[in-house]
Amino acid sequence: MEFTNLKGKTVVITGGSGVLCSAFAYAFAEQGMNVAVLGRTLSKLETVCDKINSLGGNGLAVVCDVVDKDSITSAKKAVNDAFGKVDILVNGAGGNHPRGNTTKEFFESGDIENPDVISFFDLEKENFSYVFDLNIVGTILPTQVFLSDMLGRKGTTVINVASMGSYHPLTKVSAYCAAKAGIASFTEWLAVHFAKSGIRVNAIAPGWFQTEQNKTLLLNADGSLTERSKKVIAHTPMDRFGVPEDLVGTMLYLADDTLSGFVTGAMIPVDGGFQAYFGV
Ligand SMILES: NC(=O)c1ccc[n+]([C@@H]2O[C@H](COP(=O)([O-])OP(=O)(O)OC[C@H]3O[C@@H](n4cnc5c(N)ncnc54)[C@H](O)[C@@H]3O)[C@@H](O)[C@H]2O)c1
Repeated sequence: MEFTNLKGKTVVITGGSGVLCSAFAYAFAEQGMNVAVLGRTLSKLETVCDKINSLGGNGLAVVCDVVDKDSITSAKKAVNDAFGKVDILVNGAGGNHPRGNTTKEFFESGDIENPDVISFFDLEKENFSYVFDLNIVGTILPTQVFLSDMLGRKGTTVINVASMGSYHPLTKVSAYCAAKAGIASFTEWLAVHFAKSGIRVNAIAPGWFQTEQNKTLLLNADGSLTERSKKVIAHTPMDRFGVPEDLVGTMLYLADDTLSGFVTGAMIPVDGGFQAYFGV
């Protein structure tokens, strides 16, 4: 399917070499777009760019740390030098890290004294901040830098990557969910703030996808489902994990203003029904 209004436009994708965001990059490439992928490791970004070029897009690999404004500003210069002004920003860099989690779902007496348990009281500020900042500051700062290209230009848009944790917190995963809930709020705030400037702002909220980051959480060493992932599937009416391609149609829809030109401030779950289901 060709979305003709995306052809020749420039999209920046932070975290662009990751599992979900590289799928976005390839989908945009197939629309004939300039696709700048930003991330921390040049070799991984270049591998994604090779595929972008083979699919009909123009790829650009730019090393960038999304929690460092100077690094983002340098990345913007590289993108502008290569492609001119940016039309679409996808804030995809993010993710969880075990150091922002508690060990247990529910607090029990004895947890504080137990060295094998990370209780709420054991969460170190720097660990909590690492996860929190990556997900929320790492969305706000790139938006601040790249959105200046969009002022006064039709068809420009920001698409944030939220999570099921944006609606309700997941057990154990406190820092990540606090940040992703912040993304839901920031998406609405920014959509309102720039509505009269013609810049649309939306979010896509992926459900449960098996990726590198959550592999050990969802799969045992022998490939069988962990207790947690059995709960996830039981809570997903469509009975499966997502695959990256499940997200692509929603991403293209939000990017293309001929399809979603009156949609702003929305967060769309792509989750097999997880968010809608209360379990009874
Ligand atoms: N996998 C899931 O089930 C799932 C569900 C909901 C939301 N998400 C979100 O989707 C997005 C992509 O996740 P994914 O599963 O593809 O993970 P991933 O780890 O494959 O991709 C994340 C990317 O972000 C990059 N990154 C991390 N820190 C960075 C930094 N400081 N600066 C620049 N880049 C940085 C990583 O190098 C990686 O390329 C994330 O925001 C994640 O929170 C994932």
